[in-house]
Amino acid sequence: MIKLAPSILSADFARLLEDVKKVENAGCEYLHIDVMDGHFVPNITLGPAIVKSLRKDVNMVFDVHLMIENPDLYIQEFANAGADIITVHQEACTHLHRTIQNIKSLGIKAGVSLNPATPIETIKHVIEDIDMVLIMTVNPGFGGQSFIKSMIPKIYDLKKMIDDRGLNVDIQVDGGINPNNVIEVVKAGANIIVAGSAIFNSENISETVDKFRENSKI
Ligand code: DX5
Ligand code: ZN
Repeated sequence: MIKLAPSILSADFARLLEDVKKVENAGCEYLHIDVMDGHFVPNITLGPAIVKSLRKDVNMVFDVHLMIENPDLYIQEFANAGADIITVHQEACTHLHRTIQNIKSLGIKAGVSLNPATPIETIKHVIEDIDMVLIMTVNPGFGGQSFIKSMIPKIYDLKKMIDDRGLNVDIQVDGGINPNNVIEVVKAGANIIVAGSAIFNSENISETVDKFRENSKI
């Protein structure tokens, strides 16, 4: 069974809680919170204050995707704000092992994300320490971009790396996923599906969520 993680990047920020409640009521398990700093990626989004405000009214797993430089400076704050999982980018961490330990020492789950051009070999020495790998299926920074098809073999390779070593690590995919292509990433091994525009820009969110689940049955 897949877990769905709607990305609030495509929500209406002026009606954020209202939009988040729609995906929670539709049965989505995770809330994917995209944090961008205008340095690691060419866009700026939100910080811990918004996460803290949402936490009071939302029960979904808070899945915080940090697309920022120097993530170590902000991990504690996001944990305090209510993050359940914090994902950092391999490309943004000089001391990735230390950063992962830092996240886990706060009692929350740790994820590592790979940009499309970053090979999975870059995390082979830390994969035993993490809970989730996030394979970017677009270049991070914006919602509504097209899925990069060449990421499919990368997901297969990652799944093999995890299975060969008998690990229990989730594979999350993020970028350009919709009800029509979700089956491809699920077949390759992904089990946590991020979707922004496909969910929040749809006429009927609950129908779209059902479609995602229906179409991801292998
Ligand atoms: C991209 C973000 C994604 C984005 C996905 O940098 O990390 O989470 O919101 O949006 P869609 O699903 O529209 O590609
Ligand atoms: Zn994301």
